[in-house]
Amino acid sequence: MIYKSYLAPIDEYSDFAFRLLCQRHGADATCIPLVNSMAIVQGKLSIVDAKEKERNLGVQIVGNDPKIIGKACEIISMEKPFLSWFNLNCGCPSSRTMDSGGGSAMLAYPKKISQALSEMKKKVDKPVSVKIRVKTNRKYTIKLCKELVKTEIDSIILHGRTPKQGYSGKADWELIRAVSSEVDIPIIGNGDIVSLSQGKGYVEDGYCDSFMVGRAAMSNPMLFSDEKPESFDDKIKLLEEYVEIHRKYSEPSVKHVRSKAINFLSGVDWAAKLRNSLSRAKSVVEILTMIEKQAEENP
Ligand SMILES: Cc1cc2nc3c(=O)[nH]c(=O)nc-3n(C[C@H](O)[C@H](O)[C@H](O)COP(=O)(O)O)c2cc1C
Repeated sequence: MIYKSYLAPIDEYSDFAFRLLCQRHGADATCIPLVNSMAIVQGKLSIVDAKEKERNLGVQIVGNDPKIIGKACEIISMEKPFLSWFNLNCGCPSSRTMDSGGGSAMLAYPKKISQALSEMKKKVDKPVSVKIRVKTNRKYTIKLCKELVKTEIDSIILHGRTPKQGYSGKADWELIRAVSSEVDIPIIGNGDIVSLSQGKGYVEDGYCDSFMVGRAAMSNPMLFSDEKPESFDDKIKLLEEYVEIHRKYSEPSVKHVRSKAINFLSGVDWAAKLRNSLSRAKSVVEILTMIEKQAEENP
């Protein structure tokens, strides 16, 4: 069984150090989240958060103009030739993304998605995929996927929820299975996976060809090797590992470390109390000291 475990793109969270941490703990592939195609083409944005050491690193493009999307991919592939794959975001349900016609707003325009994917295929010689959510129901989602396959993309990442659902309810894995059986390219299933064995189980049982994990990895990057940080010591070690990876390149920001601390320490009963004080921390050292101090006071 050949499959890949993917860390999902997580805007404002899955930075290079977090991706490398997940890679170290077993993730086969990761992805730079939500890169605005227009900003790339206008020269207002360039990708700095990508390191050559990252294995199977993809980049996710967002936009709604096929030519601009293709051009952005061309620019990015020249600037970062080590990127392994390109992805088009047609799943983001946030109003910020949808109001400009990108993300899941694209689901209403299959032709436009196809044009964008064709442009991407033309401009880069790396695998191209699309990340979508369920389009209303099983029938329309299968129809959409069959249409997109015609562009000769390499895979489809399918989150088993509609945009309207946001993150409520459960991902519809039966729908993901139905799409897999009807569509001839690899389907990367996504939604509610909490462990490597659960993801592998979906592959073994024919639900998908590979799988992607988002929220569960935010608090447990070790899940990609089916491990879990149980004790406070395990959790703080992970945070230190994140900081150490980051520091090999640059000093991490307080914002980055704070969000990792809050997520990695989830499950520690006194950690919730720490949230407020962490928001006042002015440096990474201060964050780590605050945590150590709390740990000493709550043995
Ligand atoms: C905070 C947050 C940020 C996200 N950012 C992105 C993003 O930039 N691009 C994207 O395609 N999906 C994004 N997602 C969706 C995830 O990639 C994933 O599809 C979703 O969380 C379902 O998987 P999960 O149940 O394993 O979390 C985000 C999700 C969360 C919770």
